[in-house]
Amino acid sequence: LASVEVDVASLTPGMSLIVKWRGKPVVVRNRTEQEMKDGEAVNLAELKDPIARNANLPADAPATDANRTTPGKEAWMVMVQVCTHLGCIPLGQEGDFGGWFCPCHGSVYDTAGRIRQGPAPENMAVPVFKFISDTKILIG
Ligand code: FES
Repeated sequence: LASVEVDVASLTPGMSLIVKWRGKPVVVRNRTEQEMKDGEAVNLAELKDPIARNANLPADAPATDANRTTPGKEAWMVMVQVCTHLGCIPLGQEGDFGGWFCPCHGSVYDTAGRIRQGPAPENMAVPVFKFISDTKILIG
């Protein structure tokens, strides 16, 4: 399917679901207040990959926490949950930065899916998506 519609009404803060989009797992996570705060507190100069990697933004947009999400819905991470090293599927809410951890070679991503440690070169990709209502997301 080129696009997939996701009902997120049941996701309270701290809950995620994974949908398949173009053969890839896409995680939709309603982040907690703490996860958002942790993501916003990051000094961008510390990031291994300073680019947002958000298909909804210009290719050179910086990897701020807000730029990893969508305006007005900053709690929500929508992201291709595929490690940018060699394509394993990271585990959610694992690792030292409270985001994602890739068990294959130890890449660690933060609460905004930005690479923080390990061999992966890039932040995990944010696909084209938008909220089409308060509780529905269209991916693709
Ligand atoms: Fe994820 Fe290598 S594939 S760290």
